[in-house]
Amino acid sequence: MQTSEFSTQLQNKINELKARRTSMQLGSVSFDSKLLLAPMAGICTPPFRMLMEDLGAGGTVSELISVHGINYDNKKTHDMLKVDEREKNIGIQLFGEDPDAFAKAAIVAQRQNPKFIDINMGCPVRKVVAKGGGSAMMKEIETLGPFFRKVKAAIDVPLTIKIRMGWDAEDINADKIEHIAKEEGVEWVAIHGRTRAQQYTGLSNWEYIEWLAQNTKLPLIGNGDLHQPHQVAKRLKQTNCDALMIARGCLRNPFIFLESLQDESETYNSLFKGSEYFEVIERLYQYTNETYTQERARLVQLRKLIVWFAAGFPGCAKFRGEMFKSKTLEDTMNNAQKYFMGLGDSYKKINYDEIFMSSGHG
Ligand SMILES: Cc1cc2nc3c(=O)[nH]c(=O)nc-3n(C[C@H](O)[C@H](O)[C@H](O)COP(=O)(O)O)c2cc1C
Repeated sequence: MQTSEFSTQLQNKINELKARRTSMQLGSVSFDSKLLLAPMAGICTPPFRMLMEDLGAGGTVSELISVHGINYDNKKTHDMLKVDEREKNIGIQLFGEDPDAFAKAAIVAQRQNPKFIDINMGCPVRKVVAKGGGSAMMKEIETLGPFFRKVKAAIDVPLTIKIRMGWDAEDINADKIEHIAKEEGVEWVAIHGRTRAQQYTGLSNWEYIEWLAQNTKLPLIGNGDLHQPHQVAKRLKQTNCDALMIARGCLRNPFIFLESLQDESETYNSLFKGSEYFEVIERLYQYTNETYTQERARLVQLRKLIVWFAAGFPGCAKFRGEMFKSKTLEDTMNNAQKYFMGLGDSYKKINYDEIFMSSGHG
């Protein structure tokens, strides 16, 4: 499929920033940037993943996908597995508590040609944890060696894991898990610096992440609360981690993977104005239409992202209200055009003190 072009001005700006990326190697896998898009359920679908790669993310991960859903041939789950042929740096993330079921599903997932297959070991959601999946896997670590071994033996692409620091403050065991993962040939570990008990409260513990990065043998990807370009830039410069993952930060600022590459001498003000946001929305609209056939699915996917992208621009609260009244795609795009194109030369200023999305699956 042919992707529509951005204006020359926007594309030049993107290219200039992309040229500042540092490519990296995580185990046997290479990426064009040290900044990767973290998995997000209901968000990291092909349209959003492709858009984030266009806007500088070095690689992406799918939302978490149930191994049982795959093995039971659930249509919705199989749809979630789909990877667009334009996606070259994608990992598929699976969740499930049973190693045989996991290995079987991983073989199916591999048919989509992902760059890696990732085990979700961080999801704190009760429904997932109650069955022994997600962050519950961090509780009984003696079962992990055979688990990793079984899945790894079933697939040809690298196996990776995404974890939290531990189950709770009394049981911080990411270091032990890293050790087991290393023994079993897992390619890298991504860590969200909270415990399961914390869910999304408090702050991601970067002191711990940096300590772990210094004390691991496997490549480590650090994650958590990297929401502002200047903060990401500072972390990139100082970190012992091999790479960083960004989740929520790119919802309010889809240009974060690029804006974080500014020099310290630069201001870290937003570099992109409303009309450029609208160009990005038009591309997302194209990807969404190519991915989903149902108008309802297109609308639901697109509208929430457009509303998040507006965060920090003047009048965004009023715009949000109007957007949720628009019932058709046409209305949605017309409203978005009117709003973003009408922003003129104003740049966004996000209020980072406001709590933004305090639940998720990892
Ligand atoms: C809406 C939402 C959905 C998420 N879904 C997943 C998921 O499917 N798999 C996963 O490993 N982590 C998931 N996460 C966790 C993120 O990948 C990330 O670890 C966490 O949000 C902390 O990073 P951040 O501060 O950059 O958002 C999700 C987070 C959010 C907010």
